[in-house]
Amino acid sequence: MSTQDTTGEDLRTSLQQRFGEAPSIPEGLKGLDVLLGLANHSTHRKYRTEAVPRDLLRLVATVALSAPSKSDLQQADIVEIADADIRRAIADLIPAMPWIALAPAFLVICGNGRRLLEASALHGETFANRHLDHFFNASVDAALVLQNLIVAAEAVGLGTCPISVIRNHAAIVSGILDLPDHVFPVAGLCLGWPEAEGRISPRLPLSQTLHRDRHDDSQLASELMAYDERRGRRDGWDPSDPDFIGWSRAKARMYAEEQRQDFGAFVSDKGFQLI
Ligand SMILES: Cc1cc2nc3c(=O)[nH]c(=O)nc-3n(C[C@H](O)[C@H](O)[C@H](O)COP(=O)(O)O)c2cc1C
Repeated sequence: MSTQDTTGEDLRTSLQQRFGEAPSIPEGLKGLDVLLGLANHSTHRKYRTEAVPRDLLRLVATVALSAPSKSDLQQADIVEIADADIRRAIADLIPAMPWIALAPAFLVICGNGRRLLEASALHGETFANRHLDHFFNASVDAALVLQNLIVAAEAVGLGTCPISVIRNHAAIVSGILDLPDHVFPVAGLCLGWPEAEGRISPRLPLSQTLHRDRHDDSQLASELMAYDERRGRRDGWDPSDPDFIGWSRAKARMYAEEQRQDFGAFVSDKGFQLI
């Protein structure tokens, strides 16, 4: 959609669907098409079979690597998975997510704490920051590149699906990709031309996620219930139906199961100190 076509009303409609409310939008505001693109984000797990041209993939990845970087340390890498055997080896680890094998393109976004250590060694400096922040900074840089990849891909009409489940097999994925010490997978990213229109996934109410001056979640329990109902109704449920499982219950059940218990050990094995 071009700038001229996008109206404040389009943006308000999108935000209303997402949050159940929308802020007012100043008359004549610039950048409405960018804001609408962000507001309309949706994950895609089904793609048409046509390939994503390599040049386009590299363009999207290059743009994404323009993300800001903590202290300009540049601690994120993208691995383009071009080899079918490597893709299959990763996809086979996660049979519940067939979109990993079927997506026309697949990337792995990594945090990289190694270059900084190399720079220290190169110049005979002591690296005096072997603690959680070293790992955390690289994770944040990688997350920013991941988000930029998603935004850039959506801007050119591609759909994406991040894959953090590769971290359920972090050591194996790391072995498959030859990731050296201090380089770790943060997420995979499926890319392809979406098979269908995206659908806006409702988010929590702004009362819980957009605070002013002081954090306030005093109404959290009731707001969670209201969100469950809004989201359930959007999906055609009657929230009083005994079979209805809202978002908060689903997430509570998800986290009643142990997952990724070995991730801390993997990160330690990669050479990071976590305290
Ligand atoms: C860091 C990250 C990891 C994710 N990992 C997975 C994944 O392993 N598999 C998957 O199908 N979706 C994954 N997703 C997609 C989320 O499920 C999706 O973003 C969420 O349901 C909200 O939907 P939306 O992106 O359409 O708004 C991930 C998203 C993020 C940001």
